[in-house]
Order: sequence, then C-alpha cells, then structure tokens
Amino acid sequence: MSADAVRRGFTEQFGGEPAGVWTAPGRVNVIGEHTDYNEGFVLPMAIDRACYAAAAPRADRILRVHAAQLGETVEVSLDALVGPGSAADTRGADDSDMSPLADPAVKGWAAYPVGVAWILQQAGYPVSGADVYLTSTVPVGAGLSSSAALECATGLALAGVSGFDLTKAELARHAQRAENIYAGVPCGPLDQMSSAFGEDGAVLFIDTRSGEVRPQPFDLAAEDALLLVIDTRVSHAHGENGYADRRAACERAAAFLGVRALRDIPLAELPETFAKVAVGLDETTARRVRHVVTENARVQQFVAILNHEDSSLPPLGHRMMQSHASLRDDYEVSAPELDLAVATAVAAGAHGARMTGGGFGGSAIALVDRDQLEAVQDAVRTAFAEHGYTEPQFFPAVASAGARRTA
Ligand code: GLA
Repeated sequence: MSADAVRRGFTEQFGGEPAGVWTAPGRVNVIGEHTDYNEGFVLPMAIDRACYAAAAPRADRILRVHAAQLGETVEVSLDALVGPGSAADTRGADDSDMSPLADPAVKGWAAYPVGVAWILQQAGYPVSGADVYLTSTVPVGAGLSSSAALECATGLALAGVSGFDLTKAELARHAQRAENIYAGVPCGPLDQMSSAFGEDGAVLFIDTRSGEVRPQPFDLAAEDALLLVIDTRVSHAHGENGYADRRAACERAAAFLGVRALRDIPLAELPETFAKVAVGLDETTARRVRHVVTENARVQQFVAILNHEDSSLPPLGHRMMQSHASLRDDYEVSAPELDLAVATAVAAGAHGARMTGGGFGGSAIALVDRDQLEAVQDAVRTAFAEHGYTEPQFFPAVASAGARRTA
C-alpha cells in the first residue's frame, strides 16, 4: 500500500493533512511455536503485509482512531483513560503483572490502538490528542499477527505526533502489554517483537528471556525457493481458551518442577522430566512440556543449519515437520485444515511445512522450491475442495523491515 493512499484516506476521514505515516508488519514464525511465554527461543520474520497509521496531533485531549477496513471510528478522552473512575488502574507501572483490566473503557478492535495509548500514558509518556487513520493488508484471523501490526503502527504514530521516541524493544514491550492488559489477550512477546524488529531478507533469532534479537540472513531466492503462506481461512472457536489453557499448563509444570520457566529444562533431562510430570501432574501436561523442550531445541538446530556453510533446505524442512508433529500430537493446537495443508504440501514436493502462530486454524507455511510452487498450491487447493473446506489463500512470505515511519 502506498503512503500517499494512506494519507488520502486520512484526509477523507478527518480532513487536513496527517503529520506522518507509520507502518508495522505482520509476521510468520518460521519455527519456535508456543515457546515465547516459556522464556524460550523463536525464529520469526516480518512479512510484507502491514498495518499503516496516518496520524495528526490534536489541540485537545481526544484520541480518535478509525479502521478503514471496518469503516468505524472510536473516540476516547485521554484524560478519562487514566483519570479516576475509568481505567484508573496503575498496573502499567508494574512490569510483571499482565492480568487484564476488569473493565476497559473500549472493547473490540479499538481496544488494541486505545490500549496502546493507555499503556504509554501509564508508563509516563506524554501522549497528545490525535486523529489516527488505520488501514491494513494483514489478513485478520489468519495467525499472521494483524493485532501486533496494529499495536506497533499505532504506538509509533502516537510517539511521532506526541514528540517522543520509542526504541524497538520499548515499542514491542508496550504493544504486548497493551494486548495483555487492555485487550485481555494473554499472548507472549513473539508477535510484537517480530513486528518491531523485522529486517529485510532476515529471520530473527530471538531469545525471549534476555530479549536479544539476532537477525539471520534468510535468502531463499538465492536457492530458488520460497516460504509459501497457506491461509486456511478458518479460526476455530476453542482457540482462545486453548491458548490460555496451554499457557497455564506450562506455568503449572514449571512451578511443579521448581524452575522459573520451561526454558530451563535441558533436552538431556527430558526423559526424567517427562516421567516426573506424568506421575506428579498428568500425562497431558508432560506432553505439553515435551513440546516446549523439543521445540526450543529445534529452533537452535534450525539456526545452526542456517549458519552452516553447506546449509541446505531439506534439513530445515525436516525440523519444520518435526515442529508440526509436536504441535499436533503433544501440544494439540493444530487443526484438521492445518494438518491437511501440511501433509498435502509435503506430498506435493515441499521440503517441509508447519502451522505458524498460535494454531487452532490460521496459516501454515511451506518451504517450497520455485519450480514446485504451482504443484504444491494446486495439490492443497484440490485437497481442501475434496474435504469440503473453505478455499485456502496463498502468498509468499517475504522477509521485510519492521515498524518504521514511511512518510
Ligand atoms: C500467538 C501469540 C504469540 C505466541 C504464538 C505461539 O501468536 O500471540 O505470543 O505465543 O501464538 O507461538
């Protein structure tokens, strides 16, 4: 989407000229799923689907946010957002508590951008009144982090019109906390960090405990290959509870094992750990633990392969397949549509494939040689039709720059 089109959208909606246009991308996670809230490793990349925010400051204390795709505007008073009586909650100051606000003033889509204004104010930033026009090319509900893109674009736009700076780490952290506390979604840091730190042509090796981000060149074009996104266009209703349940199971297991997070269980200790959790808690929780421990190891193996001089695609694809099987069988967050997309893509010639993101629907990714692309897409499309599933959508994931000002 061109910055000019976004500016024009702002002008049609609010009148006048925006002070700038800011953008933040969605992401795919290449490997390292459900590890982020266990203080583990992830390997996402930002993609060339993004949210755009054109914004102008206002002289008063009003924040208006407009969502172009929905044709809806929501207006709030910034003073009421922190003032006594409304969201007069001081939890923004305590960096560890992510429990949701009991009664946020705004719900639905606008809780994301308004939540960002709320958390920035809670953290002491001088947020000024603003008009913010939001438009996005990240499909909603596809597991590609449309909400993180929305939060990060809004965060930068508010910082820009208010005249303060946010580092990438600050942007990601505040955006995640807005989602946890204000929108009430218990996500980890993966999505917001991907959107804030994205780099052209690179995947991001992130240690979610230390916050260290190491971009790794990921030039699939040089190998005549690409990462294909297969958006199943389904989102199963049990996903929301499913995510919170998995997170709670991990926290229970870590407490039982006496570690700060499941990240602290080395792969070598998995057999004893599994037995201990299966007996002391239950077998299902032991499988959840096994997923997290093996997935952390797979991320490190994947990065080691990338850094090896004769790195080649089949071993990367193999790790993706192992990751998918673990998410399907041990963590139980896949869906029939995702399993079908993965199995069919690989049978049709992909080096590997896996679900990406939280699961329960959304998207799969497949590592595909360019000359197999048509065959893979046709096979998946046909298999979906045969099963009576909604037609999936395909597009290549192109590793892209992170959140920034674009005009
Ligand atoms: C969702 C969450 C992330 C992460 C993934 C699973 O995308 O928002 O924080 O937990 O699921 O890896």
